[in-house]
Amino acid sequence: MRRLFIAGNWKMNMTAADAVKFISEIKDDLVAIENIDIAFCPTFLSVPAVSKALAGTSIGVGAQNMYFEPSGAYTGEVSPAMVAEFCQYVILGHSERRGYFGETDQGVNQKAKAALAAGLTPIICVGETLEQNEAGETTEFVSGQVANALDGLTGEQVGKLVMAYEPIWAIGTGRTASAEDANAIIGTAVRGTIENLFGSTVSEKVRIQYGGSVKPSNVKELMAKEHIDGALVGGASLKPSFVELLQNAL
Ligand code: 13P
Repeated sequence: MRRLFIAGNWKMNMTAADAVKFISEIKDDLVAIENIDIAFCPTFLSVPAVSKALAGTSIGVGAQNMYFEPSGAYTGEVSPAMVAEFCQYVILGHSERRGYFGETDQGVNQKAKAALAAGLTPIICVGETLEQNEAGETTEFVSGQVANALDGLTGEQVGKLVMAYEPIWAIGTGRTASAEDANAIIGTAVRGTIENLFGSTVSEKVRIQYGGSVKPSNVKELMAKEHIDGALVGGASLKPSFVELLQNAL
């Protein structure tokens, strides 16, 4: 069975001082939660402080992005080895990076390969716009994103990574995909595509999160679905009630 994995994507929120204070307030409750893998993905500048605040626990730390080159003249970028010094995970291809910063499927693919080579677990995000959803293009579009992101990886590598299906229209809007719809799209466009490309042993292993307005009140229904193995949580991971969200998930 795939173990649930719930990660908080803090996006561009919380200074390092805010982050350490927040972790110290909820750490005891987090540590008491069993049978869920938990991680926080702070901004780069807060990553070392959060990693230190969580030392000695099984709670992971992830970055929200990285560059694929190992080092060199890339002003403003952070390399895989720099991320791996503090993190176990790295979010790649979040729709905000694709939408605001021009990230492409090809770039996500290069980053996925570099992250795996550095020993990181990529959390690769895919998801359609409202227009694509309403035009009935979701399955085709998301399948394409999955195939492009995983191009050239081995089945062994794919089995280790995490996918996150985040419909763009559900992010930060309070509007969640229904558990049935999310499960159906994850089952066909994400797990189904992986099965077609890498076989069922790999597709049964890979963990697939849902993201988009996950809250303490809707997490249980989503997590109960066959193909949903966790959540990538934005706004609700910035509040102490994230503990409640985690407690409600199983
Ligand atoms: P919200 O939970 O705020 O909708 O954000 C989801 C998300 O983008 C997580 O990566």
